[in-house]
Amino acid sequence: MGKVTQITHPLILHKLALIRDKNTGSKDFRELVEEVAMLMAYEVTRDVQMEEVEVETPICVTKCKMLSGKKMAIVPILRAGLGMVDGMLRIIPAAKVGHIGLYRDEETLQPVEYFCKLPQDIQERDVIVTDPMLATGGSAIDAISLLKKKGAKNIRLMCLVAAPEGVEAIVEVHPDVNIYVALIDEKLDENGYIVPGLGDAGDRLFGTK
Ligand code: PRP
Ligand code: URA
Repeated sequence: MGKVTQITHPLILHKLALIRDKNTGSKDFRELVEEVAMLMAYEVTRDVQMEEVEVETPICVTKCKMLSGKKMAIVPILRAGLGMVDGMLRIIPAAKVGHIGLYRDEETLQPVEYFCKLPQDIQERDVIVTDPMLATGGSAIDAISLLKKKGAKNIRLMCLVAAPEGVEAIVEVHPDVNIYVALIDEKLDENGYIVPGLGDAGDRLFGTK
């Protein structure tokens, strides 16, 4: 069964409060989303494989732990997931980046796929899907299904804010996927927006309406 981890570090909560504020403009919003993603990367990568290596310090030879070199991929769900990529790459610079384009139809709230470009060896990589918002869960469910269809096996989902409905939906459809979220909010409103949420993440990141 997939784990659901809330990452409630004070630095993350502080930045999330600023992100939620409707008076925060696109420039600050983008920087804050990137910073929160970078801080969350610490927890999301907590269980990556390590190997023992020998290192010669100025004093003697010793055994140390280093990342085993298992390959990773970061896969943002376009558009809003893009806002988290640079923060992740600061911590995992060797990761490859795939892109899945999905938008939520405003009437039906169903995700519509328009783009998919993944690293060729996605089957061999540990995959981290990024999207700031997990609302009904439809977009993340479709993105993860697409990744599985392409052969990805070890998939994690990383979001800033989630509705309880979205978390439940992922756990039901993809119980093997671990979910990392800064905060789980109260509910969805009648338009499928997260309450209290932060509004439309893509529009706030890119200054569109
Ligand atoms: C937003 C968000 C998620 C999706 C969440 O994207 O970034 O991808 O909605 O909703 P769901 O859990 O109900 O599927 P949107 O469709 O607005 O596209 P955008 O990122 O291009 O703005
Ligand atoms: N997508 C967003 O960007 N925000 C929400 O609250 C729900 C879906």
